[in-house]
This record gives sequence, structure tokens and C-alpha cells, in this order.
Amino acid sequence: MSVQAFELRDDDRRPPVDDLVGIVQRGLRSKPKRLPSWLFYDERGSQLFEAICEQPEYYLTRCEIALMDAHAGEMADVLGDDVRLVEYGSGNAVKTRMLLEHLHRPVSYVPVEISPEPLRTCVQELAEGFPALPVQAHLGDFTRPLRLPIPPRAARRTVLYFPGSTIGNFEAREAAELLRKMRAEMGDGGGILIGADLKKDVATIEAAYNDRAGVTAEFTLNMLVRLNREIGSDFDLAAFRHRAHYNAMAGRIETFLVSTRDQKVRVGKQQVSFGLDEAMQVEYSCKYSPEDFAALAAKAGLEIAHAWTDAQQMFAVYFLVRAGTTKA
Ligand code: AVJ
Repeated sequence: MSVQAFELRDDDRRPPVDDLVGIVQRGLRSKPKRLPSWLFYDERGSQLFEAICEQPEYYLTRCEIALMDAHAGEMADVLGDDVRLVEYGSGNAVKTRMLLEHLHRPVSYVPVEISPEPLRTCVQELAEGFPALPVQAHLGDFTRPLRLPIPPRAARRTVLYFPGSTIGNFEAREAAELLRKMRAEMGDGGGILIGADLKKDVATIEAAYNDRAGVTAEFTLNMLVRLNREIGSDFDLAAFRHRAHYNAMAGRIETFLVSTRDQKVRVGKQQVSFGLDEAMQVEYSCKYSPEDFAALAAKAGLEIAHAWTDAQQMFAVYFLVRAGTTKA
């Protein structure tokens, strides 16, 4: 592997502590209170997310891996030869590896990841499995415009890989904006290979975000642990609880931290009041039917060229291209 420059670009680093205080204070001033879901992913949060993926109720990861297992070969055929593969978030590279194993002469792999440690791990793991593959790691926030590194040789197309239903964390409008940004980055002949959770019966969806072992609850509460440590806030962990419910109108899981009493929390120089049962929103996980997803893609000037789903219609992987590009 030729790992190009591990002195990754760091122009898009995580905000410094001052900014973090500001971000949290702003979120706590809004009505209802809310905090951004990327705050989940400190080291412990990333571990807890991996543990969530092992829970029997959390079907998303298992279903997506099963889709890759069944269809990665066909996906690679659809993507074609000499692809430059750019991944949004490097996560744990299980699915990526399944795809790379089938890709025909990939030009390079570009993981885009906001935290240095997971990025480093991802690069190392791929190095072992794919010694000939040029890897161009990119440290940065994929929600911001990217300056992609120059590929080692001309690619036939750039494909942005965005697995995991992470698109679901964005509200519909933001999701369309992000897809539009991706459309620009992939260029004319490019494409987006993206995983998205499907709508299905409410009990199945709600169980996935309320596992019996309580791992998701711990994941949600860890956001407060992190803030207490990193910005010196004094959230009382015993006085907040996890709540996740499916909003059928909006088609999404909405996750909250609910205050179990009247209380005040210090954040920086401010005191913030929480009422009994006040719910602070921390995450959306939007669910899309294939029709919903086609409509979302259309808003971003994209269309579905291929879709892969399982027989139970649990999860979907789509290949999106610029609207008007697929042969009729
Ligand atoms: C990683 C964003 C896809 O929304 O299902 C899992 C995160 N949150 N359980 C999701 C998550 C609670 C997950 N994504």
C-alpha cells in the first residue's frame, strides 16, 4: 500500500474546546433543546456504537453486511473499472473491504474521517488486506466541501461510498444538501453508493434503538459523560434517561435525553435549567422507503441507477448517479 502522507489535511479539525462550549450552549438555548449527534463519537462512544451493532435488536449493520455479502460482486460490476473510491466516514472497514475485494483495478481509496484515530486504524487495516491499493487518507469533516487528493492515476469515475445509513442522521433538507455536495464532488460520470435504512413496522424499528441490554441508552448518556469531561459541564448522569421513539409522520427515530427532575446544569459560565420530563433532542435516524429515497435523490439532482435490498426489505443500498444519466 502506498499511504499518501499521513500528515492528513487538518484544516477541518474538530472544533476546539471553546467552540464546543459554544456549540453546546447554543443547542441548550434552542427550543426544544438539542445537541448534535456527532457528539456521540468520542472513543467510548465509538466503542459503544460497535457494541450496538452486535445487539440482536439492531438489525441495520447485520442487514447491510448481508447485502454486501450477497451483492458486492454485482455492485463492483456496476461501478466498473478504474474507480476512485471515496468513503464518507471510515468507521470499521468491514463493508468497505467486502466491496474492495470485488472492485476491478481500483485507482485509490480515500477514507474521509473527522477523528485521527479511527482514520489511522482504517488505513492500517486496509494496508494488510490490500497491499497494492493506494490509500489517500483525508482527515476532515465530510459535511464540508472537500478538496480531494490528486489520484495516483486517472480514474474512470469517482464513487462516493456512504454506508451505514448515516444519511439518516440528517434532517431531510440537510440530507438533500449533503447529497448535492456529493454530486458536485463525484463529478460528471461519478456516482454515490449509499446505504439507507428502510421503513418497516414500528416495533422492529423502535426495538433497534431500545435494546434490552441497555447499550443504546449508555451510548446516548455517554454524550453527557463526554461533555462533562471535555468542557467541564456538570450534567448529573443519574438525572437524565435515554428515550427513542418513532415519529411516523416524519418517518424517523427521534432520540432524546430526558431530564428526570427539575435541575440546573452548568455549561461554561452559564446555568441551564431543565424541567421535570424535559426532553433534549440528540439524534434523528430517518427511515426512507425506496420511493422516499428516490424523491430525496431527485431533490439533489440525482437518480437511483441500481438498488439492492434483502427479501425482508430491511435495508437498502443504492447506486445514485446524476439525474438523466441512466439509459432509459
Ligand atoms: C450510525 C447513524 C446509522 O442512526 O442507526 C445507533 C447511530 N444511534 N443507535 C443510527 C445509532 C443509536 C446509527 N447510525
